[in-house]
Amino acid sequence: MAKKIRSETEKALMNVSRAIVLISVFFIVLVGILLSLLFFPQGPAVFFPETGSTANATMLAASAGSTPGTISADTWKAPDVSTIPAGKSGEMIRYGKELLAHTSNYFGPKGSIAQITNGMNCQNCHLDAGSRLFGNNYAGFIASYPKKSGRGNKVEPASERIAECFERSLAGKVPDTSSKEIQSILAYMKWMGKGVQKKQKLFGAATEKLAFMDVAADPKKGKAVFILKCKRCHGIEGEGLLAADKKEYTYPPLWGKHSYNDGAGMYRISNFAGFVKNNMPYGATYQNPQLTDEEAWNVAAFVNSQPRLHKDQHNDWKDLQKKPIDFAFGPYTDTFSEKQHKYGPFKPIKEAHKNQSI
Ligand code: HEC
Ligand code: HEC
Repeated sequence: MAKKIRSETEKALMNVSRAIVLISVFFIVLVGILLSLLFFPQGPAVFFPETGSTANATMLAASAGSTPGTISADTWKAPDVSTIPAGKSGEMIRYGKELLAHTSNYFGPKGSIAQITNGMNCQNCHLDAGSRLFGNNYAGFIASYPKKSGRGNKVEPASERIAECFERSLAGKVPDTSSKEIQSILAYMKWMGKGVQKKQKLFGAATEKLAFMDVAADPKKGKAVFILKCKRCHGIEGEGLLAADKKEYTYPPLWGKHSYNDGAGMYRISNFAGFVKNNMPYGATYQNPQLTDEEAWNVAAFVNSQPRLHKDQHNDWKDLQKKPIDFAFGPYTDTFSEKQHKYGPFKPIKEAHKNQSI
């Protein structure tokens, strides 16, 4: 009997001490959380697998002084790859996607189909095979073609626009547009742009158009941005880095003879600035940009002041009224210099062209 009473008291004591342990653990955890909030108010660290660096998401955006973009209701969303149909048509779409992602394996200097390009992939500039928000995506492409091209001054089919990126962005030769490859790229782009109407306004399509600065973009300031935020991947000479198999780039070149030529879209600094603002350094997005607009304009000016292959463009933009105001080569309908057309300030040019449809 006495034994039983003793064990009852023992049990009660055990319960009390268990409760004390639990309560103290709770308090230790609470104090820990409070302390960590005090010392790391920016939130948890974010690991960037591409760069191997760890940074804090809010710190990145805030330190750059860039404003995170807000998403509007009419935002374009790429179709999910799981909706690619089965069968022959699906096979073509998948092959088209593969060709955009690893163009160089097929058409680069060591390409398995033809050796007609500089070794870049379409995806280097049209991120995630042209599906990323403001990542130079193909959202509105198919719906808008065939289209009267200002550059070519004639109505062009979609296949010809694709060929132009081969000749300019990939500084290469025109592929056979009736080939299985170009037809597959078209099939993929059709699938990507399904449901999009001609002239439909889509938030997030192509690249963002940044507001013009009051001053000219400055290659010197841009060089400082490049060294701080781009060099570690793209290389001090902008030469990029080939992958171990030497067939395609891990980090594509930004200038030099393996990069896009001066007839490419990226050579216009408004296109370059809009692209890098929301996508570079790699890992940045529209919602979490890492450059200010000014840094984007200046780094665009720096990169596009470096040497690259020249393309004869005397047949481009024959209708001068249609020539983009940041096109670096004259003649123009106005009296502004080539230098101002390349680097700005663009506001006075825009003002002078008020009545033109550019
Ligand atoms: C962490 C590495 C990294 C950093 C830093 C980085 N990039 Fe990139 N960049 C990439 C990768 C990777 C691609 C290709 C993306 C793909 O193929 O999906 C790319 C593509 C590009 C392209 C289009 C392709 C080309 O070569 O023309 C441009 C332009 C570009 N980067 C500019 C910049 C600028 C400007 C900066 C600095 C503000 C920068 N990048 C910083 C990794 C980086
Ligand atoms: C060096 C960067 C770069 C590379 C590489 C590149 N493009 Fe482009 N591409 C651009 C830019 C910038 C634009 C938009 C500006 C313009 O129209 O010139 C564009 C526009 C296009 C368009 C028109 C989109 C529209 O909505 O009107 C198509 C189609 C296209 N590219 C296909 C390709 C294909 C296919 C490849 C690979 C063979 C490729 N691009 C490689 C930079 C690039």
